[in-house]
Amino acid sequence: MPFYDRIAKQWHAHTGRHGGAFKEFLLNDVLIAAVAFIENRAILELGAGNGYFLPLVLRRYSGQRPARIVITDQSSRQLDLARKYCFVNGAEYAQLDARYPFPFQEGAFDLIIATMVFNEISRRGVASAIAECRRVLRSPGQLLATVIHPDFVASLEKRGELRQEGSYLTMPASAALRLPLHKTPKEFYERCLYNKGVDFKSRDIFSTKNVSNVKAGLKKVGNTPVALLFDCTSTQR
Ligand SMILES: C[S@@+](CC[C@H](N)C(=O)[O-])C[C@H]1O[C@@H](n2cnc3c(N)ncnc32)[C@H](O)[C@@H]1O
Repeated sequence: MPFYDRIAKQWHAHTGRHGGAFKEFLLNDVLIAAVAFIENRAILELGAGNGYFLPLVLRRYSGQRPARIVITDQSSRQLDLARKYCFVNGAEYAQLDARYPFPFQEGAFDLIIATMVFNEISRRGVASAIAECRRVLRSPGQLLATVIHPDFVASLEKRGELRQEGSYLTMPASAALRLPLHKTPKEFYERCLYNKGVDFKSRDIFSTKNVSNVKAGLKKVGNTPVALLFDCTSTQR
């Protein structure tokens, strides 16, 4: 059973319609700015969770009409919540495990969004997911992938906040919620992108006062970046 099938309700309570404080006060704006436009683009979201993000994108770029929207997650219970609470009219909802071949044709999408998903997947799964993103992206196409920053993971480990629970390594989230995690180095993500001929810019995302006022756990992080964003462009075929 996918990890999030078990915690889907708690996750939705934690993340709500804006993704929780870190996303609401910081990351959403960064990602929405990076999207830049949606007119006529075919958009795929991987690991969409409760699906809060695309409604925000559609609101920000209201008046523009995407060609297609596909909202996916490994967890069917997350998808149920997405349909129930963050429904996007005209969108397709599909269960998709990003570690395995995607059920889409080559060049089917202009934009792929994967927020805090690849850090929950083993390295082999990440390599496969990035290869599949490359395959199903048009040229030019954009992959916006955000992961928990490896430096942040290292700081959690140093403070003894990572825990092995059965087959999962977990990290703390809000309240009593713990989330699965893989300790994947930045260089590994970069190598996967590079090997697939994907151009990318990476950006460290640091917490702000607004965020840590609400999310007390982030007060401890000091100058450690919390998230790592890869804004990727697939150009050659
Ligand atoms: C930390 S949550 C992020 C959800 C959403 N992107 C957000 O930012 O709120 C990670 C999501 O990735 C999904 N996920 C984990 N492993 C996955 C996999 N192998 N394939 C697809 N989705 C996966 C989980 O079910 C969960 O919904």
